[in-house]
Amino acid sequence: MVEAAKGVNPEALVFFQLYHSTDPRVVESFLRRAEQAGCAGVVLTVDTVQLGWRPRDLALGHLPFLKGQGLAIYLTDPAFLRALEEPLEGPALRPRPTLALLKNLLALRRTGRRFGLSLTQMQKAVRRFVATYSFPELSWEEVRRVREATSLPLLLKGLLHPEDVAKAVALGVDGVYVSNHGGRQVDGSIAALKALPLAVEAAEGKVPVLMDSGVRTGADAVKALALGAKAVGLGRPYVYALALKGEEGVGALLDHFLAEVELTLALMGVARLEELGPAWLQS
Ligand SMILES: Cc1cc2nc3c(=O)[nH]c(=O)nc-3n(C[C@H](O)[C@H](O)[C@H](O)COP(=O)(O)O)c2cc1C
Repeated sequence: MVEAAKGVNPEALVFFQLYHSTDPRVVESFLRRAEQAGCAGVVLTVDTVQLGWRPRDLALGHLPFLKGQGLAIYLTDPAFLRALEEPLEGPALRPRPTLALLKNLLALRRTGRRFGLSLTQMQKAVRRFVATYSFPELSWEEVRRVREATSLPLLLKGLLHPEDVAKAVALGVDGVYVSNHGGRQVDGSIAALKALPLAVEAAEGKVPVLMDSGVRTGADAVKALALGAKAVGLGRPYVYALALKGEEGVGALLDHFLAEVELTLALMGVARLEELGPAWLQS
């Protein structure tokens, strides 16, 4: 959660990634927590107002949230916890008693212990999360409200179309983050790198443009920087490194990545990042 993330490395620039909830009290509370934790900014992800069609997750029945995993920010949030006693719309769930259900309950109880929550509270928390997470109605008006609700710099993540970039800039965001969510949302979506040049043009130098999705090597990063990105993000690579060798693995990945960026620039004969531009990519 945001306090712990900032706590382990107080010197680092920590951004709080916000998924808008259908419960504005929870959004408000998350923003206060990000401010109080000393975050450098809020990244509002706008491309995942509901989960995309993910055949592998579906085939494996993989949705860790149902086990209470990946919900720390909610399970420690006063506004979310206060709302647990409020009734939710929809039919009461009466799942059949199966081995899978039993395993799930045990996982929920384990997670609950970490957060000082009972099994009943965990069940309510999972249900409330599922009921409030998807927000297909997310609109520019909501973005404006988030903009006004925090004093922190606001970045919008998940933009691809130059018109959206222009709208975001006009609305007063402090940065745009070009991303197709690592291709996890819309199958066959435009590649983020392909969308980048027009996004940079649309931002007109008024705010920084960041990008991710498909960045795997230092050379990939150099290409994105040459096309006008101010920074790139790594998604899966750090997760793979984490799975293989924990914190040490992530450290090694970043060392190698940065070394390759430097080496690529040196081989190009580029001394400073500011020298990069689209002309470097012309054949
Ligand atoms: C397992 C997984 C979970 C993710 N969860 C989030 C998330 O909670 N919020 C978000 O903004 N993006 C999330 N993303 C998307 C990443 O932030 C990023 O946009 C994407 O992974 C970049 O593409 P790459 O994996 O090709 O580097 C997730 C990606 C993966 C693979």
